[in-house]
Amino acid sequence: MSKAPVYRNFIAGQWVDSGSGESFENRNPANREDLVGLFQSSSAADTRAAIGAAAAAYERWRKTPAPKRAEIVFRIGEILRREKERFARDMTREMGKVLAETRGDVQEGIDTAYYAAGEGRRLFGQTTPSELPDKFMMSVRLPVGVAALITPWNFPMAIATWKMFPALVCGDTVVLKPATDTPLSAVHLIEACVEAGVPAGVVNLVTGAGRTVGSALLEDDRVRIVSFTGSTEVGRLINRACADNFKRVSLEMGGKNAILILEDANLDLALEGVVWGAFGTTGQRCTATSRVIVDRKLMKPFLERLGARAGQLKLGDGLDPSVEVGPLINEGQLATVDKFVQIGKDEGARLLCGGQRRSDGALAKGSFYAPTIFADVGPEMTIAREEIFGPVLSVIPCSGLEDAVRISNDVAYGLSSALYTQDVNRAFAAMRDLDAGITYINASTIGAEVHLPFGGTKQTGNGHREAGTAVLDLYTEWKSIYVDFSGKLQKAQIDNQ
Ligand code: UN1
Repeated sequence: MSKAPVYRNFIAGQWVDSGSGESFENRNPANREDLVGLFQSSSAADTRAAIGAAAAAYERWRKTPAPKRAEIVFRIGEILRREKERFARDMTREMGKVLAETRGDVQEGIDTAYYAAGEGRRLFGQTTPSELPDKFMMSVRLPVGVAALITPWNFPMAIATWKMFPALVCGDTVVLKPATDTPLSAVHLIEACVEAGVPAGVVNLVTGAGRTVGSALLEDDRVRIVSFTGSTEVGRLINRACADNFKRVSLEMGGKNAILILEDANLDLALEGVVWGAFGTTGQRCTATSRVIVDRKLMKPFLERLGARAGQLKLGDGLDPSVEVGPLINEGQLATVDKFVQIGKDEGARLLCGGQRRSDGALAKGSFYAPTIFADVGPEMTIAREEIFGPVLSVIPCSGLEDAVRISNDVAYGLSSALYTQDVNRAFAAMRDLDAGITYINASTIGAEVHLPFGGTKQTGNGHREAGTAVLDLYTEWKSIYVDFSGKLQKAQIDNQ
């Protein structure tokens, strides 16, 4: 008999069972025998109850002064800081990435709390002079209503906080639906909210499948905002589902991020950036480096050194401090990675290392895949164009900056990009010309900080940004206010001719 703990939904300030009476398992991807817990397989009715709670709490929450809302968010950050180690360990256990990275994930939540909390005393609008005498004009940010947050498993804490904390500071109330692979980190976040004093109904948690919980969120008119991070395929469905009732939808989806390495690059530095970008988080980041576009003149030494370095990476359970690469999230993702590797071989790319599942010794019980590098990849090949979301890197030759930028831009996505060069002129040209929401110079494609906008161009997103102050445009509605203190009827555009 399993002794796994059972976790519940959080609705209207109470931990409650799903009306479905059913639960699903959350297992450790490094060791499938390790059952992390059982979570509610929620129904549409559970989801509607959570939306109802959020809608009821909204009236009071929107009138709570923003600095007070922000103080609560600050306290959530303090609790995350206190619990960082415990939450990070549980996160490694539920989704596999190494402990240094899960600590970073919780840290990103702490950073977001502190940054969003400061915004409680800003939320700046504008004042501007009127064209008429004795008239005052200003714009203010007002909250929107209930926000549905649909979050991915690769950054279970960070991305949930990117969405939740600005929503709370702006005065919106929240229903969080975490990925079914990582519900425990969401439970931890809600526990921190409760301890920090978030009023009942302001945050709600509903675990379960996209087709039940997700669909119920999208169909309900009381939900005014949907913020989603995940696959382009699901993002497209969400966008369509929200079109009829004009919900605000923020989508952060796929990437096919490239590092460009020019002839004059510091090769040692570039190699470190490539290995970290491609195989950190087992390649399961939206910002992961999945292409490296290398000047032909550097190709030979680059490949020799890259292959040697990737072959040395230690795979295993992320709780072991010597491990550098954890498992893939689940067997389905492993099958997807394997399918793309087969396509790469079939299309004529040269397998430099990896290319297969690893199940030797201690890896037998988990979903491990060898860090994989393809050389001689053509920009038209499938592995150079489609997002794989695993430890698979395509090395594409180029001739100089312009060629590298052209190849980098010639994909459907535009999240992150990076250039290694010592030449400031080339760096500035690339900063202008790379079609992506993020560009790094002499750094890898990963490592975004929370106080600049995060998001991408083309099929990566739909024009919204998370983080920074840009995210406020999702969680607030602008109102323009005119106050006429002349005591007479004044007509804009007409009195002023
Ligand atoms: C993601 O992969 O979805 O820049 C988010 C980074 C992290 C966030 C990644 N700070 O890689």
